[in-house]
Amino acid sequence: MIALSDACFSGQWLSAILLSLGCLLSPCLPAGQTVDYSSVESVVSRQGDTALLRCYLLDGISKGAWLNRSSIIFAGNDQWSTDPRVSIVSSVGDKHEYSLQIQKVDVSDDGQYTCSIQSERNPRPKLLNLIVKVPPKIHDISSDITVNEGSNVSLVCMASGKPEPAISWRHITPLARKYDSGEYLNITGITRDQAGDYECSALNDIASPDTKTVKVTVNFAPSIHEMKSHGVSLGRTALLRCEAAAVPSPTFEWFKGEKRIIKGQGIDIKSLSSRSVLTVTNMTEDRYGNYTCVATNKLGTANASVPLIRKYRY
Ligand SMILES: *[C@@H]1O[C@H](CO)[C@@H](O)[C@H](O)[C@H]1NC(C)=O
Ligand SMILES: *[C@@H]1O[C@H](CO)[C@@H](O)[C@H](O)[C@H]1NC(C)=O
Ligand SMILES: *[C@@H]1O[C@H](CO)[C@@H](O)[C@H](O)[C@H]1NC(C)=O
Ligand SMILES: *[C@@H]1O[C@H](CO)[C@@H](O)[C@H](O)[C@H]1NC(C)=O
Ligand SMILES: *[C@@H]1O[C@H](CO)[C@@H](O)[C@H](O)[C@H]1NC(C)=O
Ligand SMILES: *[C@@H]1O[C@H](CO)[C@@H](O)[C@H](O)[C@H]1NC(C)=O
Repeated sequence: MIALSDACFSGQWLSAILLSLGCLLSPCLPAGQTVDYSSVESVVSRQGDTALLRCYLLDGISKGAWLNRSSIIFAGNDQWSTDPRVSIVSSVGDKHEYSLQIQKVDVSDDGQYTCSIQSERNPRPKLLNLIVKVPPKIHDISSDITVNEGSNVSLVCMASGKPEPAISWRHITPLARKYDSGEYLNITGITRDQAGDYECSALNDIASPDTKTVKVTVNFAPSIHEMKSHGVSLGRTALLRCEAAAVPSPTFEWFKGEKRIIKGQGIDIKSLSSRSVLTVTNMTEDRYGNYTCVATNKLGTANASVPLIRKYRY
């Protein structure tokens, strides 16, 4: 604590400050002081910024003090608080400025401040409400997950901020379907169309939203949705195409009747993630017949058959 200099402060004045301080704690006021609570000024500041709480002394002879709840921060120009972030901003004009500046404000600084002005004729405290706001920040979100189709999925997204941020979820698809807001996104019996990225967004009125995404992979067994061949004449090249939907990507096998087909001797098999193409160069009589494509992943298998028929040229 800094000792009061007798030259600057009369004992009377200090006791007036302490009395006005008492009034913040109980509804008493020293004689002559009135507070209009409806006119309490609010100062909104963002965490980390410098807040300025404005106060003016009406004449050169009045003295001011700044109080924070139950403690004196400044009495005149003497700093009572040991907090290095506080200072008095003063300027001399028609009104004498006696404002309190707080650097790097934090939520703990939130609350009511009093600028106590002591003068012979018109002693009055000015109340200011400092509101420190904090931008939204997502601090915890589900990790990317892989589930089987039909599973129940629960995603969670936790965020902090002041005011408390509102949390919403969005499925990132061309339709950008919105879900009910809240920390949890629960999907019962997930389908393959519900796979993809889910974006969590945390929003309050102080800054742009904080967003993070979770990737949801939905595994499902293969299904063959296209199996095609064209009639082909002897000596020409035949193409058979098999397309399957599956996650993870399937492996493909080809059969002619019961017999597994392997590459070589004029036969080629090219498989990509969702399609397989069987090529027969130089068709021979014995290669006509029924071909079966089998797609397999860890969740299951599917097959489809198509006949490769002879085309006659007249
Ligand atoms: C105001 O008071 C609170 C609680 O006593 C304290 O945490 C905070 O640092 C004070 N702020 C200033 C600027 O003195
Ligand atoms: C998924 O949720 C539904 C409804 O809440 C429940 O009936 C079902 O048993 C759950 N399924 C699994 C695999 O937990
Ligand atoms: C979603 O799931 C979580 C955890 O499984 C649960 O705590 C929460 O109540 C569920 N919310 C809804 C709206 O069903
Ligand atoms: C196609 O196969 C027939 C019979 O095996 C053979 O005689 C002919 O030379 C082959 N043609 C080509 C272009 O490979
Ligand atoms: C082709 O083969 C499959 C599997 O062996 C069989 O189920 C299907 O009946 C056959 N189709 C024809 C036209 O022979
Ligand atoms: C094709 O699927 C049927 C059942 O859908 C199965 O009975 C048959 O064995 C399968 N064929 C092959 C070659 O896997």
